[in-house]
Amino acid sequence: MHPSSPRQASSAASSAAKVTPSALGLIGNTPLLALDRAYRGPGRILAKAEFMQPGGSVKDRAARAIILAAREDGRLAPGASVVEMTSGNMGAGLAVTCAALGHPLVVTMSSGNSPQRARMLEALGAEVVLVPQVDGAPGQVTGADVNAAADVARRIAAERGGFYVDQFHAPDGVRAHAETTGPEIWEQSSGRVDAWVAAVGTGATFLGVATALRARNPRVVCAAVEPEGCRPLAGLEVTRRRHLIQGTSYGSVPPHWIHGLMDLSIPVTDREVERWRRALATQEGLHVGYSAAANVAAAAALLLSGRLAADAIAVTVLCDTGLKY
Ligand SMILES: Cc1ncc(COP(=O)(O)O)c(C=O)c1O
Repeated sequence: MHPSSPRQASSAASSAAKVTPSALGLIGNTPLLALDRAYRGPGRILAKAEFMQPGGSVKDRAARAIILAAREDGRLAPGASVVEMTSGNMGAGLAVTCAALGHPLVVTMSSGNSPQRARMLEALGAEVVLVPQVDGAPGQVTGADVNAAADVARRIAAERGGFYVDQFHAPDGVRAHAETTGPEIWEQSSGRVDAWVAAVGTGATFLGVATALRARNPRVVCAAVEPEGCRPLAGLEVTRRRHLIQGTSYGSVPPHWIHGLMDLSIPVTDREVERWRRALATQEGLHVGYSAAANVAAAAALLLSGRLAADAIAVTVLCDTGLKY
């Protein structure tokens, strides 16, 4: 029905203004959730519900930013293929973005990542190439495994003339978090952030949010989360490359890491991660992935350490859903 009176026309315009034009509009603006049941103090843990995004993880933000920037400056032509190595989440964010913008997507993934991830990517229309593990084990993906998958991605991009996303070297990933996640946290907490805590894969989430929060309050304590035995950010020798926190801590310092943005690195054990994952599910109703549980474990450890005030607020991210593990 066409609007025929001015009144009908204005109500059509206002309902159009409420319409989200594509799945890209579902990325970002996630709720900041209090975890008051699983963590009872001192202080409080608030967490960005990143699992609520269309690709199911924090990586949707970087995926959208990298693809939009590449289209904008001509590195990615309309309809051209996109190629990337992923542990699953970047692939899902890219699959959502590429479907909405009309780009074919090829992802390479270490076979050590959970099979559910490959199924999800295929369901979103991506071509998935599994790369055998070098020295990891199923569910425990190492830096060498990731490098092997990246080599295959680079080769496919060259063979097919596709745009290679290269998330570990893409500044737009960091920018996405500096321009969206960080300011959202500041606004949602009314500027009451004492600490920022996050596990590190490419480092985009940690660095982008730390940049945004420090610009608003230089005293915000920024803590990276690292598995016990695999703590290069803390400057320690890596003695244990295998751990549960998929998508993070590949045993080396990420290429665009900025040491000055990290006040401390907090160690977590696989056992703590399992315990917090269970607590978040049974006490909060949040079935999240391992890095989300590691982030909450570390935030609790920081608040319990006595380094912050007794009423301090530590903010972190629930990186992804537990459904794909
Ligand atoms: C489950 C999960 N958590 C955390 C991260 C880390 O995010 P970033 O690459 O922004 O450091 C990733 C990255 O892929 C991930 O897959």
